[in-house]
Amino acid sequence: MELRSILPENEKSILKPLYSFALSVIGAVSSELILSNFLDAHAITTSLGRVSVIAIALFVVHRFALESLHSYRPKLKDLLTLTAILVGTVAMVALGKLVCLSMLSYVKTLHLTGFMSYAQDIEPQALYYAIPFAAGGILVQAAMGIEFALVFGVGLSLIVGVYFPEDLVLPAFVIATTYIGSLGMLKVRSRSAYIKAAVSVGIVTGLFALARVAVHADNSLFNLLVGLGTAAIGGLLCSFVVSGIAPVVEHLGGYVTDMTLLEIATLDHPLLKQLSIQAPGTWNHSMVMGMMVESAAQAIGANTILGRVSCYYHDIGKVKNPLYFVENQVRGENRHDKLSPSMSALIIKSHVKDGIKMAQEHKLPVIVVDMIPQHHGTALIEYFFDKACKEAEDAKLGDAVDKNLYRYPGPKPQTKEGGIIMLADGIEAASRTISDPTHDRIQGLVQKMINKVFSSGELDECELTLRELHEIAKCFTRVLSGIYHQRISYTEPAEKMNEKEESSNQSKQETSPKEEGRQADQKNRVESSATTKKENAEAQAKRDEDDDGEDLKRLGIS
Ligand SMILES: [Fe+2]
Ligand SMILES: [Fe+2]
Repeated sequence: MELRSILPENEKSILKPLYSFALSVIGAVSSELILSNFLDAHAITTSLGRVSVIAIALFVVHRFALESLHSYRPKLKDLLTLTAILVGTVAMVALGKLVCLSMLSYVKTLHLTGFMSYAQDIEPQALYYAIPFAAGGILVQAAMGIEFALVFGVGLSLIVGVYFPEDLVLPAFVIATTYIGSLGMLKVRSRSAYIKAAVSVGIVTGLFALARVAVHADNSLFNLLVGLGTAAIGGLLCSFVVSGIAPVVEHLGGYVTDMTLLEIATLDHPLLKQLSIQAPGTWNHSMVMGMMVESAAQAIGANTILGRVSCYYHDIGKVKNPLYFVENQVRGENRHDKLSPSMSALIIKSHVKDGIKMAQEHKLPVIVVDMIPQHHGTALIEYFFDKACKEAEDAKLGDAVDKNLYRYPGPKPQTKEGGIIMLADGIEAASRTISDPTHDRIQGLVQKMINKVFSSGELDECELTLRELHEIAKCFTRVLSGIYHQRISYTEPAEKMNEKEESSNQSKQETSPKEEGRQADQKNRVESSATTKKENAEAQAKRDEDDDGEDLKRLGIS
C-alpha cells in the first residue's frame, strides 16, 4: 500500500519534504558512487562535499517546482521512479564515458596515417555528445509529463556539471537536448514520434558539437565530421533507449505512455469490433464523442489521445444489453416499457460495472478503465427516478423513492479529460434529439447541458475552470455543427425537387382557355397550398418539440 494513503493528513505534510530530501540524497550518493571514479579527487571530505551539493540542489529544484509548476504534483511513486530513472541515466552516462575513453585509448595505440591520423588527436569531450544524455528526460516526459522532464533536466545537468568539470558546455547541452527531445514527444500521433524526437535531439547535439569545435578553435575537417557523427549517434541512441526502456517503466511504475494509448486506439481492437457489431448506435455515439473530446482537449491543453481513446471505450459495457439503451433502439420499441423503474435503472447502471470488468479482462490501461465510471460520475438517472416518483404518487405509497437506487456509483470525474468526457457524453446524446439542428440550436443545447452538469456539482473534482468550460462549449458546438450541417444539405434538395415536381404537374394539368381565370385559380391553389404547408409545418414543429422534450427528458436534460 502506498505510504501516503496510510498516513493521516498532518503527518503527510511533514513527511513529504522528508522523503523527497531522502530521495535527493539517494540520487546524490548514487551519482557519487558511479561517477567519482572518473575524477582525481577521492578524499572523503571531497566526496561528502559533492554529495551535499547535489542533494541540496536536487531538493531545492524539487521544492521550487512544487511551488511554481501547477501540474508538478508528484506522489511517492513518481519520486521513486524519477530517482530510479536519474540513477539509471547516470549509470548509462558513466558507461558511455567509459566506452569513449576506451575507444580513444585504443585509437592511440594504432599507427594511423594520412587523414585518419587526426583521430589520435581527438579529445574525449568530443565523443561525449554520442552519449544519449536526453534519453532519461524523454522517458520521464513520456511517463509522467513535461513538468517532470523539466525538473529532471535541471537535476541531471547539475550532476553532469559536477562530474564533468572538463567540459563546461555539457550542462547546457544536457538541458537543451532533454527539453528538445521531450518537446518532440509531446504530441504523439504515431510511432514516428520517436524518430522525430531523435532527429530533434540529433540536430541540437550537432549544433552543440560544432559550437564546441568553434570554441576550441579546432576547425579541422576531421573534427567537424566527428562532431556531426557523434550528434547522429547520440540522437539514434536516444530513440533506441527510450523505445526499449519505456515498456519497462510502464510495467513497473504503472504508467501509460501516449504510445500505448495509440496502440489501443485502433478500431480493430476486439472490444471495439464487438461494440460496432452488437451496439452500432453506441459505437457511433462513442466515435462522435471522440471527435468532440479530442477537439476540446486540444483547446484547453488536456491529453487529446487519452480523451479520444477513453471515449471509444467509455460505454463498452452496453454490449451486454444493447437494446436497453436508447441509441440502439428502433423507434417505437422500448424494452423499458415492460420493466419497473428500479429494474430499468439497475440495467442502465450495470453498463458501468460491465464496462469496467470487460476493460480489465482485456487489460486496458488503468487510466482508461478509470474513465468508465467517471463518465457518469454520481449523476441521477432522472427519467426513471421521476417515473418511480410518479408511480409511487399514483399508488399513494407513503414511502419516498430511494434516490440512491437511481444514482450512478461514481466517482465524479477526477481529471480534465474525465470532465470533458462527461460533458461530451450527455451533449452528443442530446444533440441527436434536435429535429432542426441549426448552429444556434446546437449552441443553446451545449450551453444548457454544460450549465446543468456544472451546477449539479459533478465537475467539482476535475479542476476545469470556467474559461475552459467556455472553450469546451465552443469546440463542441463547432464539431456538432459540422456533423449536422451535412445532414441538412442532403434533405433540402429533395424537398425542392418535390416542390418543382408539384408545380410542373400543376402547370401541365392547367387547361383553362381564359388566362385571367387560370392565373386566379393558380393563385388560389398556391395560397391554399402555402396555407396547408404552413399548417403542416406548424403541426410538425409541435410534434418535433414534443418529441424533443420527451427525448431530452429521457436523457435527463430537461
Ligand atoms: Fe454511459
Ligand atoms: Fe456514452
